[in-house]
Amino acid sequence: MEKTSKAPFYITTPIYYVNDVPHIGHAYTTIIADTLARFMKMNGREVFFLTGTDEHGQKVEKAAAEHGLDPRAWADRVVVRFYDLWKALNCEPDFFIRTTMEFHEKGVQKLFQKLLDQGDIYKGEYKGWYCVPDENFLTDDIPQEKDGTKICPDCGRKAASVSEETYFFRLSAYQQKLLDHYAACPRFVRPAGRMNEVTSFVRGGLKDLSITRTTVKWGVPVPGDPAHTIYVWFDALHNYLTGIGYDWDPVRFGKFWPPSVHLIGKDILRFHAVFWPAFLLASGLPLPDCVFGHGWWLKDEAKISKSMGNVLDPYILIQTLGPDPLRYFLLREVPIGLDGNFSHEGFIHRVNSDLANDLGNLVSRTLTMVGNYFQGTIDPPSPEETQDIQIQESFMAMKKNALAHYNSYALSKALEEIWAFITIVNKYLADNAPWKLAKAPGLRPRLARVLYQAAAGIRGVTALLAPIMPGSAQKIWEFLGESGMIQDLRFDDLAFDDLRLGQTMKEPTPLFPRVDLKAFLAEGAKSKEEKIMDETKNEHTIEPAATPVTPAAISSDPPAPKKNLITYDEFAKLELRVAHVLEAVKVEGAKKLLKLKINLGTEQRQIVAGVAETYAPEQLVGKKFIVIANLQPAVIRGVESQGMLLAAVAGDKSAIPFFESDVPAGTKVK
Ligand code: MSP
Repeated sequence: MEKTSKAPFYITTPIYYVNDVPHIGHAYTTIIADTLARFMKMNGREVFFLTGTDEHGQKVEKAAAEHGLDPRAWADRVVVRFYDLWKALNCEPDFFIRTTMEFHEKGVQKLFQKLLDQGDIYKGEYKGWYCVPDENFLTDDIPQEKDGTKICPDCGRKAASVSEETYFFRLSAYQQKLLDHYAACPRFVRPAGRMNEVTSFVRGGLKDLSITRTTVKWGVPVPGDPAHTIYVWFDALHNYLTGIGYDWDPVRFGKFWPPSVHLIGKDILRFHAVFWPAFLLASGLPLPDCVFGHGWWLKDEAKISKSMGNVLDPYILIQTLGPDPLRYFLLREVPIGLDGNFSHEGFIHRVNSDLANDLGNLVSRTLTMVGNYFQGTIDPPSPEETQDIQIQESFMAMKKNALAHYNSYALSKALEEIWAFITIVNKYLADNAPWKLAKAPGLRPRLARVLYQAAAGIRGVTALLAPIMPGSAQKIWEFLGESGMIQDLRFDDLAFDDLRLGQTMKEPTPLFPRVDLKAFLAEGAKSKEEKIMDETKNEHTIEPAATPVTPAAISSDPPAPKKNLITYDEFAKLELRVAHVLEAVKVEGAKKLLKLKINLGTEQRQIVAGVAETYAPEQLVGKKFIVIANLQPAVIRGVESQGMLLAAVAGDKSAIPFFESDVPAGTKVK
């Protein structure tokens, strides 16, 4: 059953393997999810958006070994690339889960144990072919090659022959239940074509699934049988439960489960539309409303992936233009279910034609005229004429259609609708030629009307574009003299004539400068070289995150300005206070973490700090140091942290600056 329009909305991305740095294919999934999360919020729904990293398994073990690191240290290093990229792309997940977080591992073990106890999991022997890069067993119907090996049908590489004792999940027992579910909920898998694929796979018969390994050490141990680790996919899929609070935040879990949509790439459809609902049926949990399989981004007709050697670095595409052109391009160019071929020419063409010409020029000339003719504040306009009413009606029709497209995840269609309206406003301006009206003093009220209609149209467009281009939309919002955050607007309240008369509009700064393709490609190549050099230079200096990073680490701030300078106002947002440590204990199972009870003068709080490798708990009790007191609370290894202490961090060592003189707890630090 799909939820009613104002029910909570829970959206997930796949969790990304940390065997590789993120590329444009990963960025695509996260941008779609971020856009839908933003849209649903503006549509009045309470939203939870989950993303994260898949850190166990053979692939990660192998990548770590190749770099001479243990898997955890490797994951700590790579995960930072994902945090940074989401921040740079203005993607704001509500929680970033890592499968190495303790509460996740415990949740996976608990569910495994439950299924074992009830007989849905049993021990046996597996003989078969395994694709290491894809972390997947090949189905029996795949024929042997002449040399006796088998080739993975998904990636075309040689699979390995394996035989081992294993625990099986009784997938065969769920064949009919899955088929019944597909029949009852035909929109469980979307787009529709993918539903057919899934149904025919399940009709073909389901065999029990091997869900543990004895050959892979880097994973969650089977409870009571630690020679076995839980198969990375059984582990990973359960992030959708643990990341929303399963077994640790019943209120949040109760509110958001089941998911509204699991957004995934088409390559991992079977895991999400067959195995995952079977695990959930066995656990007695409600199934997600929908699994949406998007297409791939291809380069020269091949899937963009590390192994294909054609990875496109999203940073190169956003370093000069910011994140919005890329967000716009990826969502506009191709309907979400289909594959798209990435070309720099296509990207720059969209930036110049749609963003710089159509939208950028409309905003710039309208607001420049408001500035020139009315010093930024439009006079009372003349009554509306037919064409003025028409533009308002076109807006309301466009809004209705765009919202419907957004609601059905047809983002490219929503953008087409919005652009058709931008064309209407541009034509309205050309037809009414305000620059001519400005020459006749008697026509000033008409001039005011024409510019009011154009500005009101821009305001409406801006609101509807905010989920896709949040940074640019906020800028235009402020040019229009609106206050507050555009994302706080609700579409239900959005009317054409909400633009208040009397508000002062600003002189616009360029939104989307035109880009020269040759210069862009040359710049991209140059920075790629610099980046490669930088990476080599930093090879041994990139520090692992001192503590597991949490939602608070995914800041909602826009990307930092050039040279990473911040303004005084930004600094002043930090509430730094003197904390007095009352109690300190180790966090169970986390060798770097201490849980501290601190006094902040007017209140006591609990914080988690990654300093256990340098300080024993008793060394900290009675000490005073600085904490950031207004940091959003975060859960670290299942323990809530209500602030963060400041310390110098070098590798595994940390040094906390303590106060030597006696300052009262809670004193502000400036
Ligand atoms: N770790 C698993 C997912 C576990 S979810 C419980 C995984 N990770 S992945 O890093 O390999 O891929 C993550 C997502 O990125 C998948 O949805 C995949 O389809 C998507 N993309 C990877 N390359 C892509 C393109 N070239 N184009 C579009 N998306 C692609 O699978």
